[in-house]
Amino acid sequence: MANLEVNFAGIKSPNPFWLASAPPTNSGYQIMKAFDAGWGGAVWKTLGVPVVNVSSRYGSVNYRDTRMMGFNNIELITDRPLADNLREIEEVKKRFPHHAVIASLMVETRAEWHQIVKAAENAGSDGIELNFGCPHGMCERGMGSAVGQEPKVLKTIVEWVMEVAKIPVIVKLTPNITDITRPALAAKEGGANAVSLINTIQSIVGLDIDNFAPYPIVDGKGTNGGYCGPAVKPIALNMTKNVAQHPGVNLPISGIGGIETWRDAVEFILLGAGTVQVCTAVMHYGFGIIREMVRGLEEYMDSKGFQTIEDMRGKALPNVLHWEDLNLKYKVVANINEDKCIGCQLCYTACEDGAHQAIGLSSDPNNRKPFIIEENCVGCNLCSLVCPVESCITMERKDDGNQHITWKERTAAGNIPRTFDDELAGGRHHWVPEPIDAFKTRKPRHYKA
Ligand SMILES: Cc1cc2nc3c(=O)[nH]c(=O)nc-3n(C[C@H](O)[C@H](O)[C@H](O)COP(=O)(O)O)c2cc1C
Ligand code: SF4
Ligand code: SF4
Repeated sequence: MANLEVNFAGIKSPNPFWLASAPPTNSGYQIMKAFDAGWGGAVWKTLGVPVVNVSSRYGSVNYRDTRMMGFNNIELITDRPLADNLREIEEVKKRFPHHAVIASLMVETRAEWHQIVKAAENAGSDGIELNFGCPHGMCERGMGSAVGQEPKVLKTIVEWVMEVAKIPVIVKLTPNITDITRPALAAKEGGANAVSLINTIQSIVGLDIDNFAPYPIVDGKGTNGGYCGPAVKPIALNMTKNVAQHPGVNLPISGIGGIETWRDAVEFILLGAGTVQVCTAVMHYGFGIIREMVRGLEEYMDSKGFQTIEDMRGKALPNVLHWEDLNLKYKVVANINEDKCIGCQLCYTACEDGAHQAIGLSSDPNNRKPFIIEENCVGCNLCSLVCPVESCITMERKDDGNQHITWKERTAAGNIPRTFDDELAGGRHHWVPEPIDAFKTRKPRHYKA
């Protein structure tokens, strides 16, 4: 049976699922409730000099049937007094000594950093997370992402913290930067024990087009906020991979961004994360989602023969290469399973207008099922992604698996296109219709009877 316990940079927790610093970790009440439900750790809502928040704080991108596919906030750090939070940290730790309580911190001066780090430690926190990520409000005051975007400043502040810290220090990184490995390296140089990523992405989720204001609207006006939720997971996964693969960073990573299910968590762990943190999914569905997450992760690990999180951590990293190292000889072609096809013709439209005119329709009006024209198919996957029927269009391998050449190897061999009309161009001699054929008929083209 899989063992979910983790030791993350010295912070122990019964499982790798932590609540991210956000409204679900505002209070001891919520964190006790979450631990009772099964969460392994919690990063407390960022502590500092308390703020005043605006009313009307969240906006969302509802995509088709999915509410809060993307989520946006203009909330700042905690608005509760520090003493209240510290007392509650102490209470939570007394009741749950084996769960991880991490104090997220954000202040300005060296003296304040020293003071708040010591206060968080004295309250019994297991670790500290430095919030260098908040992309709205706090950055305008020289904190949050304003620090995360300046590796030199970040390093200096980490050094201030390390002067007094006796418990592990995690640096939370902002994605609002071109290359996330630069602040990650700065965190390492400053002496941090781990990094977490990502914080929210600067964004405008939408506009009230009648009143000309961005959401969320505060008395007729708005401002850019921080984007999170399922929509940001691909960005967070890529940044996690970048940090995990960078040989100079080599720090434990807590993965954050769009995690909602055990499968999302597995993806982050396979790309190098040692723990994962969740915010939006809990704000949407509550603490109870942890039961399914824990069970799913255990079952996955058992099915793969992983005893511990460490056994599976980073397992996908060797398979994430640079484009120039991919095999140019690999060849797949789409295949339609006629028994499953419902004749919606979405694949035909997608390939005809958006890809390579490699799907044909029968001239028999009673037969709506399309067919693949293999010699035109470049194996782009588009039709299989568009098709609404699971496993109806599959991509079938056509090369024999024995040939392997990469762009890097071709470059070294001097075998790459160099002129505008080079014979070596990949699409040379690939059939495309004559431009004028676009007007020949406005009906779907029929390639064969
Ligand atoms: C309303 C709200 C408030 C947040 N407040 C904080 C905060 O105080 N400190 C912090 O480090 N991150 C804060 N975050 C960012 C989250 O901790 C997390 O990094 C981000 O939401 C991505 O995770 P998710 O996609 O699971 O929501 C906040 C996020 C939201 C939605
Ligand atoms: S894989 Fe791409 S090119 Fe091939 S049939 Fe599908 S959409 Fe067309
Ligand atoms: S999209 Fe799928 S179901 Fe629809 S016609 Fe194409 S193969 Fe058939």
